[in-house]
Amino acid sequence: MAARPKISVVGAGNVGASVAQYAAEKELGDVVLVDVIEGIPQGKALDLLQAGPIHRYDSLVTGSNGYDETAGSDVVVITAGLARKPGMTRDDLLFKNAEIVGSVVEQVVARSKDAILVLVTNPLDAMVQLAWKKSGFPSKRVVGMAGVLDSARFRTFIARELNVSVENVTAFVLGGHGDTMVPLPRYSTVAGIPITDLLPKDRIDALVTRTANGGAEIVNYLKTGSAYYAPAASAVEMVEAILKDKKKILPCAAYLDGQYGTKGLYVGVPVKLGRSGVEQIIEITLTKDEQAAFDKSAAAVRELVEKLKL
Ligand code: NAI
Ligand code: 2OP
Repeated sequence: MAARPKISVVGAGNVGASVAQYAAEKELGDVVLVDVIEGIPQGKALDLLQAGPIHRYDSLVTGSNGYDETAGSDVVVITAGLARKPGMTRDDLLFKNAEIVGSVVEQVVARSKDAILVLVTNPLDAMVQLAWKKSGFPSKRVVGMAGVLDSARFRTFIARELNVSVENVTAFVLGGHGDTMVPLPRYSTVAGIPITDLLPKDRIDALVTRTANGGAEIVNYLKTGSAYYAPAASAVEMVEAILKDKKKILPCAAYLDGQYGTKGLYVGVPVKLGRSGVEQIIEITLTKDEQAAFDKSAAAVRELVEKLKL
């Protein structure tokens, strides 16, 4: 058995390369980067390996256009796919990325039967449902990254608004990763104090809106791509929680079997992440309005998933 855990990252683009970088910098394990573009994963991997002496990590980073090097992975982060381009509908993206993620999952699970899959590719909630179906894995070993990112955005905006350390701020954003996401101010705190006691409603509403549009705000600046530093940091927080068996409570896209009134669907909820994956779905009490917003978000996710006819 390898001395270090193996983390495979499929898709060596903006998010994937940053996942590899942060995972190596935290020395979470050896990293294998995979992409279809010849030379890209190999070149980025070698470059990251050469940052090791300076950043003081011994993690091995290798790149490949195939999957044999991923065999026996502990965690596989899937970022392969397209971002939405001008002229492309949301459905075009859905079907194209479903094709990519479906084939990636087949290749990955054939070589790593015990891995935990962390999905990043958009549309996130539908892709994680597809990956779970294709993999044949128990739902606890297939999880999606979105809530950690959306919450990190909300935490950033709260910290800037109140001029306090981001370390003092916790926040929860539930639901699907899209326009209908559900930031929960009542459960968002600064040093344990709910922000509903610290900020007027109109300011909270503004921060909630900015969070829900957080991805689009960055696309509008970048123009040719979407966010990747915070998304990669979010995925790596999940990888770390898994590999170190931290039992960390994080909002993730997880399979609901009746919890939150939703059955048979991956949606963003707080979960306990540890070495066996999603070890528990944490059920928090929602107000009528919060539950209605969650239901609306879950319905939007279900509508996308149904188009895939899984
Ligand atoms: P990117 O375009 O920089 O990288 C995607 C990479 O996937 C490319 O290098 C491409 O060659 C590769 N790829 C395409 N087909 C492949 C295949 N069949 N096998 C292996 N690799 C393949 O895009 P970026 O910025 O890294 O984003 C990746 C995905 O993550 C997008 O779908 C994006 O929307 C999503 N995303 C999701 C977030 C979330 O919160 N869940 C946050 C940020 C991005
Ligand atoms: C984001 O929220 C594009 O889903 C990505 O930045």
